[in-house]
Amino acid sequence: MSCVTTISTVWIQYNQKKAKMVNPSPGIAILGAGIFVKTQYIPRLAEISDLVVLKAIWSRTEESAKGAVEIARKHFPDVKCKWGDEGLNEIMEDSSIVGVAVVVAAETMVEMSLKMLKAGKHVLQEKPAAASISEIEAAMLSYRIISADTPCRPIWAVAENYRFEPAFVELKKLIAEIGDMMNVQLIIEGSMNSSNPYFSSSWRRNLSGGFILDMGVHYIAGLRMLVGCEVASVSASTSHVDKTLPGPDNITSNFQLENGCSGVFVMVVSSRSPKILWRVVGLKGTVQLERGVEGGRHGYMTTIYGEGGTTRTIFYPFSGVTEELKAFFNDISDTSKKEQEPRLSYVEGARDVAVLEAMLESGAKNGAVVPVPKF
Ligand SMILES: *[C@@H]1O[C@H](CO)[C@@H](O)[C@H](O)[C@H]1NC(C)=O
Ligand SMILES: *[C@@H]1O[C@H](CO)[C@@H](O)[C@H](O)[C@H]1NC(C)=O
Ligand SMILES: *[C@@H]1O[C@H](CO)[C@@H](O)[C@H](O)[C@H]1NC(C)=O
Repeated sequence: MSCVTTISTVWIQYNQKKAKMVNPSPGIAILGAGIFVKTQYIPRLAEISDLVVLKAIWSRTEESAKGAVEIARKHFPDVKCKWGDEGLNEIMEDSSIVGVAVVVAAETMVEMSLKMLKAGKHVLQEKPAAASISEIEAAMLSYRIISADTPCRPIWAVAENYRFEPAFVELKKLIAEIGDMMNVQLIIEGSMNSSNPYFSSSWRRNLSGGFILDMGVHYIAGLRMLVGCEVASVSASTSHVDKTLPGPDNITSNFQLENGCSGVFVMVVSSRSPKILWRVVGLKGTVQLERGVEGGRHGYMTTIYGEGGTTRTIFYPFSGVTEELKAFFNDISDTSKKEQEPRLSYVEGARDVAVLEAMLESGAKNGAVVPVPKF
């Protein structure tokens, strides 16, 4: 159903609004049935099943859709299985589905999101926001046209769970305590080897920028959130060492922040020594976040090194995916609210991609300084 201004659409929207007063949970569909849907979306949605009604799961093939629906049925007994073009049309025409989560291959994600937005659905799209800056520019233009044409202004959100991780939310509040920022370090030693369920994912291998773009947007999102300003320019070296991975598989980049501080971003896609660390060094102290495990729970060990040798350490378990889903459901349950949750906005996702693309471009140009495009 296209969200055009016809009497019937207005009538349907009016009825939807009325219905929501009785039953405030929005109906949603998941487009995609891959590993992330099965291991993250479905379990996290199950935990907040009072906030949302999962109406359908769609995939290109029946087999794949069925696999995910089987898992989801335990928590959402009425979830429907949809596949192919016909299934997708049924979802677009179903006025009880107000929002969709787009969790398909990165190369087709934007096209799918725009299609859904045109059909009047609110969209929560998985990261990365797009596969390249040129795709982002075209996408943002299309979205502006769609928004201008549709009275219900569908929301386009990018699911970047790092912006919702309590560790980042809390440390961001403390960053002022460390005084003038002097240096930032991001050290990422990943473990993307053949034991990782995403290792063989063919679309990740097809993506220009390989795993550095797909995984890297998370780390850049964390960086931008912590420092509270944008990356202005970068200069990077890249290389392709591990030939079982798509290239490049490692990058070392200097970056210049808009606040004048510089830093370094190191990312090795597959290492024997997993480490994920952000460190912001200031005149009066340092804050650090490091991925870790405590009491069997995965999360971030955060430390604030203050004046006089004081340190405070707090462990925050992961809950970013749940928090981000809650924020999206809140946004689409009450679209009369003036502003959408800013951490979900498409442009935030676009800025993460822009930083990485600039780094990859610099790497390809032997470290030439590349300014990061602004959005
Ligand atoms: C990856 O690229 C190859 C060659 O261009 C193409 O045949 C294949 O469909 C692509 N796979 C995905 C999942 O996009
Ligand atoms: C990438 O990793 C390899 C192996 O550790 C190393 O030899 C190379 O210098 C690294 N390249 C960059 C750009 O960090
Ligand atoms: C992959 O990396 C993890 C973490 O470092 C390690 O435990 C595992 O043995 C590695 N698997 C292979 C096949 O190298």
